[in-house]
Amino acid sequence: STIYLEDYQPPAWLVTHTELRFELEEDQTLVRAQLSIQSNPAVSDRRKPLELLGDAGMELCRLSIDGQVLDAADYQREAGCLRIANVPESFVLECVTRLLPHENTALEGLYKSDGMFCTQCEAEGFRRITFFPDRPDVMSIFRTTLVADKQRYPVLLSNGNPVDSGEDDEGRHWVTWDDPWPKPSYLFALVAGDLALLEDQYTTASGREVALRIYAERKDLDKLDYAMQALKDAMRWDEDVYGREYDLDIYMIVAVDFFNMGAMENKGLNIFNTSCVLAHPQTTTDQGFQRVEGVVAHEYFHNWSGNRVTCRDWFQLSLKEGFTVFRDAEFSADMNSRTVKRIEDVTLLRTAQFAEDGGPMAHPVRPESYMEISNFYTLTVYEKGAEVVRMLHTLLGPELFRQGSDLYFERHDGQAVTTDDFVAAMETVSGRDLSQFKRWYSQAGTPRLQVSDSFDAATGCYQLKVRQSCPPSPGQEHKQPYHLPLAVGLLAEDGRELFAGLLELTEEEQVFRFDNISERPVPSLLRGFSAPVKLDYDYTDAQLLMLLRHDTDGFNRWDAGQRLCIRLLQTQIRNHQQGVALSCSSELIEAWRNLLQDASLDPAMLAQCLRLPSEAQLSELAEQIDVSAIHEAREFMRTTLAQVLEQEWLQVYQRCDTGETYSTDAEAMGRRSLKNLALAYLMATGREPWLELARQQYSQSDNMTDQLAALSLVAHSDFRETADELLQAFYLQWQHESLVMNQWLSVQASDPSAGALARVNQLAEHPIFDARNPNKLRALIGGFCGQNPMHFHAEDGSGYAWLADWILRLDRQNPQVAARLLTPLTRWKRHEPVRSALMQGQLQRMMDTAELSADVYEVVSKSLM
Ligand code: ARG
Ligand code: ZN
Repeated sequence: STIYLEDYQPPAWLVTHTELRFELEEDQTLVRAQLSIQSNPAVSDRRKPLELLGDAGMELCRLSIDGQVLDAADYQREAGCLRIANVPESFVLECVTRLLPHENTALEGLYKSDGMFCTQCEAEGFRRITFFPDRPDVMSIFRTTLVADKQRYPVLLSNGNPVDSGEDDEGRHWVTWDDPWPKPSYLFALVAGDLALLEDQYTTASGREVALRIYAERKDLDKLDYAMQALKDAMRWDEDVYGREYDLDIYMIVAVDFFNMGAMENKGLNIFNTSCVLAHPQTTTDQGFQRVEGVVAHEYFHNWSGNRVTCRDWFQLSLKEGFTVFRDAEFSADMNSRTVKRIEDVTLLRTAQFAEDGGPMAHPVRPESYMEISNFYTLTVYEKGAEVVRMLHTLLGPELFRQGSDLYFERHDGQAVTTDDFVAAMETVSGRDLSQFKRWYSQAGTPRLQVSDSFDAATGCYQLKVRQSCPPSPGQEHKQPYHLPLAVGLLAEDGRELFAGLLELTEEEQVFRFDNISERPVPSLLRGFSAPVKLDYDYTDAQLLMLLRHDTDGFNRWDAGQRLCIRLLQTQIRNHQQGVALSCSSELIEAWRNLLQDASLDPAMLAQCLRLPSEAQLSELAEQIDVSAIHEAREFMRTTLAQVLEQEWLQVYQRCDTGETYSTDAEAMGRRSLKNLALAYLMATGREPWLELARQQYSQSDNMTDQLAALSLVAHSDFRETADELLQAFYLQWQHESLVMNQWLSVQASDPSAGALARVNQLAEHPIFDARNPNKLRALIGGFCGQNPMHFHAEDGSGYAWLADWILRLDRQNPQVAARLLTPLTRWKRHEPVRSALMQGQLQRMMDTAELSADVYEVVSKSLM
């Protein structure tokens, strides 16, 4: 059944206070909930029955109203809902439910991860714990008591502050937590386990002392320092940049190994996937460190953008996620290299979000309908949502944007609101009409800008003509023009900047005129990726090379290089399809040689410039995806650049191989990324000396970044003996580090050499693999289907059948993860006919299976439409 935004109704009943008592035992958990309920004065229809949501599989043990026990005739229970008629205006409902956390493999609600109890309630997990109006616009003050065996579960945590505790003679103890801030049920959390703790403290700008506690399994205690520093940096940054302070005495983070997503911002008690909080130089790559910093900040920032001001309904998810992703991206940009962060984010958007926009699950940043909300925690809601907030920031400028955010928090503190409310605050402070801008929230699809220009040398008048359009998406045939900021520079032939500024697009077609331009300029368009669009302008190779050399906008310098590569690659893809010999332009080679020899360039930027667009990105750009042609063309270009510039790659490798001790500062990370890129190109020559170099780096490095880079290059090379040897050595060294073993799995799952499917099947039987652990599934299945295109897309369809087998098996166990792993198959219409039909066949096979979860059903059925 489908839920529609337009059907939204405010809740008929409010829950002012929620008191919970959890009796945690090995074979069951009893939950007693006491809800102080009153009719919503804002809703007129007071005779409505009370409707509480509760999972169909949850056992209801007792129900009473104001102390009067109800019997089965007093209420109706049907799939997912409990209905009680004739309740008073205000009353206390008591409800006892019995849960089986140890059997909860969906990892929603209360479940066990490696022997500890934990919860995941967003979006709709609380209804697996007790009956409740489980919707974000019902906000309640929670008081929670946990009772458990003291030896097994010495640590008992929930939201807020601990206010009472004790123990009995039978070895059980209890702790009561009180959260003074009203919150929706999706922000509820509890944890019980035998956990180690890193503690620190933070003094807020106004002088509040906050205890900072990060909990993990004892063996991981040495991997918490980085997250702690990130947390303190994020707290300071939110005070400095947004004027937002923390509002409780304790801030807790708990690391759990079994987790469906990255992390969760539960009030005062964040629960994190270990992959997003544990970090140590020996076990974590630079990318991993960056992710920890970003996610810790993201969850912390939610305390205001999400918790103090929350969403009215789940269609508004981007209200908190888009804004918070924008906030964490700006934080990371301030902590590291701003341009590199932007390049990484835009690459993700162009590769994966644009593909989502072009697929069957395409939806607006504020969706209009859904069957299963878990399917809408998407790149569109998160990443495109963040771009929409960034455009507001660009259009208003930093000062007005800050005033707007202050007003938004002030107006709506303690409320559950909508994306319209967010934009309204920006309208108030700026005095601008943003109604057209709001189409970014309601229209799906990636807009396209077609830019052409003209120059009149006699008058010095230069004109840019911009046409915008947006392709149809499911349910939206015609799109209205968007309001967007187009950042532009005009450069002279020698790189001098003749103009720099911001244009605003509102019409389908607009002409912008620049006077007193001394020579025909080269336009640097969409600087900093000022809007999430595709931009066409008919650049010559020479113009792109000029921009690559001279553009003062770092992002566009990089982008000019990418455009050049993409164009050359697209030509080679066509050549391959037509049986024409492949070739690589000498201009590109010379441009790269210049870059490689210029020791003054920032290594991190250089690494970005010298990386070829991925096969996934080339697929997104293709009219029809031909996996093999894309692979062959890119491999050809990569090996050519490797061979022709072999000496330059070696020099760069040596220049970056400084022997310095490991540090996570941006410069050191930049040097490592360039060094490992150089090593990748050296290995692409297939020559023995570089195998030795990689082997040396593998065994001598003091950090996971260099070790893993060397391992994966060797493992993906034709030197199979050394590959097996290093993979085995790596396994023996790291078998007790679960997160490192995930890397070991994904390196092998993404190995392009022959026999990949047999290898992943073998790995699925390996003792370190655990099909109930989402991180392991993502490493193995995600690694094969997402990072190994030639084998996933094998022409006999074996990769597709393999994925479908897994989905059907996982769907019974963990629907959220199953639906997510399914993504690659949903893109079937984009592929050439042979593969397309095979993919469709597997989707149809799933569709014909009885009893799919709502999660998988929604994705499969929409894909087949
Ligand atoms: N609110 C979390 C975050 O982005 C995501 C949790 C979503 N979890 C889920 N199972 N849908 O920070
Ligand atoms: Zn979030």
